[in-house]
Amino acid sequence: MSCKLIFLFLALVYAHSNAVSVRQNVRKFPDGFAFGAATASYQVEGAWNEDGKSENIWDHLTHSQPNPVKDGSSGDVAANSYHLYKRDVEMMRELGLQFYRFSLSWSRLLPTGFPDVINQAGVDYYNNLIDEMLKYNIQPMITLYHWDLPQKLQEMGGWTNSHIVDWFGDYAQVAFKLFGDRVKSWITINEPHSICYYGYSIGHFAPRIDSSGVSEYMCTKYLLLAHARAYHIYDQEFRPSQNGNIFIALSGQWYQSETDEYHDAAEDYIQFTVGQYAHPIFSTTGDWPPVMKERIAAKSAEQGFFRSRLPAFSPEEVEYIRGSSDFFGLNHYTTYYVYRNESSTNFAVPSFEDDIGADRYQLQEWHTQKDVKYIGHVPWGFTKLLVKIKEDYNDVPIQITENGFSTLPGLEDDTRVAYYFDYLNALLDAVESGVDVRSYAAWSLLDNFEWIEGYGIRFGLYEVDFEDEARPRTPRKSAFLYKEIVRTRALDPSFEPDASATMTIDQGH
Ligand SMILES: *[C@@H]1O[C@H](CO)[C@@H](O)[C@H](O)[C@H]1NC(C)=O
Repeated sequence: MSCKLIFLFLALVYAHSNAVSVRQNVRKFPDGFAFGAATASYQVEGAWNEDGKSENIWDHLTHSQPNPVKDGSSGDVAANSYHLYKRDVEMMRELGLQFYRFSLSWSRLLPTGFPDVINQAGVDYYNNLIDEMLKYNIQPMITLYHWDLPQKLQEMGGWTNSHIVDWFGDYAQVAFKLFGDRVKSWITINEPHSICYYGYSIGHFAPRIDSSGVSEYMCTKYLLLAHARAYHIYDQEFRPSQNGNIFIALSGQWYQSETDEYHDAAEDYIQFTVGQYAHPIFSTTGDWPPVMKERIAAKSAEQGFFRSRLPAFSPEEVEYIRGSSDFFGLNHYTTYYVYRNESSTNFAVPSFEDDIGADRYQLQEWHTQKDVKYIGHVPWGFTKLLVKIKEDYNDVPIQITENGFSTLPGLEDDTRVAYYFDYLNALLDAVESGVDVRSYAAWSLLDNFEWIEGYGIRFGLYEVDFEDEARPRTPRKSAFLYKEIVRTRALDPSFEPDASATMTIDQGH
């Protein structure tokens, strides 16, 4: 070998090893992993009383006096996606999304709540949205219920009336029939814990029933049965011809014991929040988590109730619910420390908190967005929760149906950029430990109505100007980060997103 050649050879080896060492920091997502973004009907659609839609519980709540929403706002217009859906699909194309998760408004499709009247304008809207997405090969993932129950059904007791199992099953059947030829991914119910806890326990969300430790458990029972009804209808009557999948999306935060002595307290928190819904569906035995059955029965007896406040499932019901989900859909946002000592005994009786009998808190330093303090940035909690779900529920395949971060308005959302990067990195840590995670949906595609918080705090990859009647959408810095992650199917710590760049649609989208 001549001197020149040796030099060239060494130079190549050096360049190669350099490239490898840079690439070591770039982490790839597994083959087949799917990227998307999520929204929900009441939070984005607007058009609250247009084209035959009837009132739902959030219309009812936000139109009541006084309106309990912090900024006095409502979803009457929201991001106006009912009229601007083509722009929404254009944003999905800009980001290069493989799927988009959105929900159907029950009262837009079935204004009476029942299938006796099917509102054609509502059917047209969802057909147009689905077809526009499919034109660009973006797969629809539809949530049947994302918190906007028809008000008429609420007046009959909502989720605490056992008949909701029929009501929800009928609605689901209509949806499968109308859209299932093109929609291959169905979510029955979004965040049951939020529905029953915020709606029927502490009364922060519609229907604002304040009945902690009592009506929330009735809500859970009939919600789980309604979910299972929709699952079995799809499984038996539609899956054979439509070949899709159907699952539930649970909210799960991580509860970390403050010290080793609080391990049981943290485990109780997980069982009462995640396990309350996951154990009946995903465990080998089904039914409520044993700790809930025992604790609530004992406390109810002590408190003078004639039966447990936690209503029982019959053996047939246990079997009906067990196994009724093709995936574990997970909405994850943050982590809490848990402890249990003399100071954690001061709860109202009866109450959900008293049933858990432990306290939780977050560290100030987790609130990287100092002016919002809504979502704490704790990526390791995400990894721990994913590993626990794998261990507790027999390696169940997981889809991340929501994950995201809240800021004030503004395009330079560095805290959100850091959150997405670190949480996706934490997801890859879980994948490396053998957790079967199949997809990830960012919450949210665009700014929207954040329930009781109104428009004060924002979750969008795209900012929406709610002061402007045209509701213009502008990509934030985080949109440029997410686009790069989706394009490269990798996390590259050296990539620096630029909010002032021009957003374009890449070829093939
Ligand atoms: C209970 O634990 C919390 C959290 O560690 C602590 O702040 C509090 O002082 C403790 N209370 C008692 C009575 O020990």
